[in-house]
Amino acid sequence: MKVAIIGQGYVGLTISAFSGQFFEVVGFDKNTEIVESLNSGQSHIEGVGDDVISHLIKMGRYIASSNEKDISDADIVIIAVPTPLTADRQPDLKFIDAACRTIGENMSKSCLVINESTSFPGTLRKFIKPTIEKYSKVPRAHLYAISPERVDPGRSDYNQKNTPRLFSGLTPEATQKTREFYSKFCDDLVEVSTPEVAEAAKLFENTFRQVNIALVNEFVKIANVLGVNVHETLNAASTKPYGFMKFTPSAGVGGHCIPVDPTYLAISAEEHGVPASFIRLANEVNRGMAEYVLQRVEADIGGSVKGKSVVIVGVAYKPNVADTRETAAELVIQQLRFRGANVTWHDDLVSEWKNESSSPLHGAEIAIVLTKHDDISPRQILESAPYVFDTTGSVPGAHGF
Ligand SMILES: NC(=O)c1ccc[n+]([C@@H]2O[C@H](COP(=O)([O-])OP(=O)(O)OC[C@H]3O[C@@H](n4cnc5c(N)ncnc54)[C@H](O)[C@@H]3O)[C@@H](O)[C@H]2O)c1
Repeated sequence: MKVAIIGQGYVGLTISAFSGQFFEVVGFDKNTEIVESLNSGQSHIEGVGDDVISHLIKMGRYIASSNEKDISDADIVIIAVPTPLTADRQPDLKFIDAACRTIGENMSKSCLVINESTSFPGTLRKFIKPTIEKYSKVPRAHLYAISPERVDPGRSDYNQKNTPRLFSGLTPEATQKTREFYSKFCDDLVEVSTPEVAEAAKLFENTFRQVNIALVNEFVKIANVLGVNVHETLNAASTKPYGFMKFTPSAGVGGHCIPVDPTYLAISAEEHGVPASFIRLANEVNRGMAEYVLQRVEADIGGSVKGKSVVIVGVAYKPNVADTRETAAELVIQQLRFRGANVTWHDDLVSEWKNESSSPLHGAEIAIVLTKHDDISPRQILESAPYVFDTTGSVPGAHGF
């Protein structure tokens, strides 16, 4: 059985690594640099080791390719391409459209198409299937299914094997074949009645996180005026063994999913005339945290940050990954520069970002901690500047929340 996986990023490469244990895998990606480095045995994704890729290549189970023809004889084609927002924050399906084109124009036989990219309910039925059919020179009776990805890069306790996986096909045959495929490497498969349920569930999972993060971020402000320590209060609340789930405050939400997916749900709702008030408000609260952090810093130092040297500690969107997509650091840095501060950033995991390089940790007048990786100790951070503001709750002795 041959599996082609379109997109070799966080999702696609992770699936390649797991399915490569059982099938012959072609990892198709338009980015030739990624393809070359994968074929030389180098992974660019946390959680997928170089040794895993090298081993699969040696066994003849994996090859990366930018040649569309290499997917033509696959039995299963998985779509794992980005689903971002456009500049005016609308769902952007251009990568899915391009993946559909690759499938439509190149398949030499019928296959099972599985979408793992996150999108709004109806994407498989109303967009992917008709788009592939539109691009197919020869009509093919492909099967279609969805299995939204739940990978959490950098996480070691949950992976493809032990994370329950939702799935559903457009036909019973598609559902059955999808089950057979994932059952090779996933212990817990959860079949739902329609692809739309799987698509909606994925969006709701991330919306649940977005809304709860916004709630805890709002609570940061409330705790501050009440004079209670936010982390101690949250730890106290989380001793309740039921009905409470702890979320941690931050300078905003980042990553490909949480700042983006809820908007896919909101727009689907609004298109049907249903307001998505919680989702919209949560976005606003989370995006407002950058400004709030600076207000707190200026209140502490008793004046403006104008002319001050400021180092941002950690620009990745979460600890121990090098991923800067939608990172809250972007807004914080933008607003600091707008206020006239001289801003550098320190993040040796990210190392290069927006044509800037990671700067030394020490030497600025102000350090603002946005993400704390394990490669740096609280003491090093505390000693990095005369004034340290911590948004992560991991630097005892620092100002912050
Ligand atoms: N990263 C996560 O933690 C995560 C978790 C769950 C779901 N998802 C969803 O999975 C999807 C993929 O996300 P990701 O994080 O893997 O993205 P990514 O940016 O890490 O990787 C996407 C890859 O697709 C390639 N690509 C883009 N268009 C292509 C095309 N037409 N043909 C071939 N390759 C193409 C890019 O070069 C890139 O290497 C998104 O819908 C995302 O929302 C991501």
